[in-house]
Amino acid sequence: MILDFGSQYVQLIARRIREQNVHSVVLPCTAKIEEIRAQNPVGIVLSGGPCSVYDADAPPADPAILEMGLPVLGICYGLQFITHHLGGRVRSAVKREYGPADVEVIDTANPLFAELPASLHVWMSHGDEALDLPQGFHLTARTSNAVAGMANPERRIWAVQFHPEVHHTQQGTALLRNFVFNICHASPDWTPEHFIHSTVAAIREKVGTGHALCALSGGVDSSVAAVLVHRAIGDHLTCVFVNNGVLRKNEFEKVQQNLRDKLGLKLVAVDASKRFLLKLRGVTDPEGKRKIIGNEFIAVFDDEANRIAEETGGVEWLVQGTLYPDVIESSPVKGPSQTIKSHHNVGGLPEDMTLQLIEPLRDLFKDEVRRIGRDLGMPEDILQRQPFPGPGLAVRIVGEVTADRVALIQDADEIVVSEIKKAGLYQQIWQSFAVLLPVKSVGVMGDQRTYAYTCAIRAVHSEDGMTADWVPLPYEVLKTISSRIVNEVRGINRVVYDITSKPPGTIEWE
Ligand code: XMP
Repeated sequence: MILDFGSQYVQLIARRIREQNVHSVVLPCTAKIEEIRAQNPVGIVLSGGPCSVYDADAPPADPAILEMGLPVLGICYGLQFITHHLGGRVRSAVKREYGPADVEVIDTANPLFAELPASLHVWMSHGDEALDLPQGFHLTARTSNAVAGMANPERRIWAVQFHPEVHHTQQGTALLRNFVFNICHASPDWTPEHFIHSTVAAIREKVGTGHALCALSGGVDSSVAAVLVHRAIGDHLTCVFVNNGVLRKNEFEKVQQNLRDKLGLKLVAVDASKRFLLKLRGVTDPEGKRKIIGNEFIAVFDDEANRIAEETGGVEWLVQGTLYPDVIESSPVKGPSQTIKSHHNVGGLPEDMTLQLIEPLRDLFKDEVRRIGRDLGMPEDILQRQPFPGPGLAVRIVGEVTADRVALIQDADEIVVSEIKKAGLYQQIWQSFAVLLPVKSVGVMGDQRTYAYTCAIRAVHSEDGMTADWVPLPYEVLKTISSRIVNEVRGINRVVYDITSKPPGTIEWE
């Protein structure tokens, strides 16, 4: 169990532990002792965090977590939290340490440092440091000027000032492994198979003979969630897939083939494209488009939900493909952020819906979800699909969304994606797509004057969509894409390449 004090690395701690096939989950540091106990942890990691223990807004964790009798590992702020609450002294460091540092292990017999060299090359990122250790603690490691580790084995508490979870700390994974296995005695049984087995059993027990609904987008997360729930309750799960008129070329058919025909899901496919396009008529404002599509989606889904509830005699559950990164966005330690865009996805369903949620992927990261999907026998083209926004091509058509413009961008987009796949780059790139601009320019084709639209190509690398770098696609790939679009898509006569990173740009144009 990892308690999140607001560290940017908390996800990494969880994943490093899961890489050892040990189940690990993260709770906000404000979690109540009963909530922590309810998860049956074999050990607790206190993460780093941006605050000082003396800040008025220091994360308010319950110091009783140190008295639960479970092994505790404090990392960075976690070490300071332990020091502060057990009677030691923390101070603002004379010399702040950010970046690489050398650590000398003093207590080489300590199980946390088992089989590690006495000199470690680590990553530090802290302003405060422990000055006096709490009673009963001894120094286990130090840098040239500060405490780098301490422990009180009787109380089963260990702490390090550096970050073992980051790649730059050589031996960091070995240290976490020591904590997990030598100290917590965790069992390495968290494999995709195990996860599937226990999740399916838990869903079966929870839902019983009830009925569940799932709004599918055709993307990785909602599809894997649906397949898992389908394993548990079979046709008591009905999936709804809505054609909002701004899907990619042939996507409405492809998703049905994949999910209904290949995976055997009970799928209701609703072609509501006319309804969406009618509502979008004349709208050019990006937020206006997003809101219309979000609201219309809810209206369509609501109609279907009512119809399905009548047919099945009632629906009690709603399946969502929420992932761990979506969950921490709402962590209490995070401050309020400005709305740049109103995101809409299949999770944005009406609040007054009286359905209970099933979120089987809540603790996982995208690549873990892909691993699970693979074990469930799902096709690679679903699992490797690049993210696609809820409002679809509407936010890739600058200006008014019309059926003609949708057709143009669908054709251009298909060329971009197929050429990038052909070049073997699709899986290395976070997203690659075409954008239709409302800019017409003059061209010449076969001695004929043309006056047609401009298409922008966008390809970005990103970890999580929060920041992104534009990808320097090989000239040959750009050349083929440009030439194919201008030659094959009647209505586009100019292609430009978007070389803006995020920030200051965003990934989608609207
Ligand atoms: P931006 O354009 O904000 O996009 O830099 C960041 C990531 O989010 C995706 N995106 C969305 N995903 N619903 C979604 O599910 C949305 O409304 C939405 N808008 C943007 C975008 O494709 C990129 O991966």
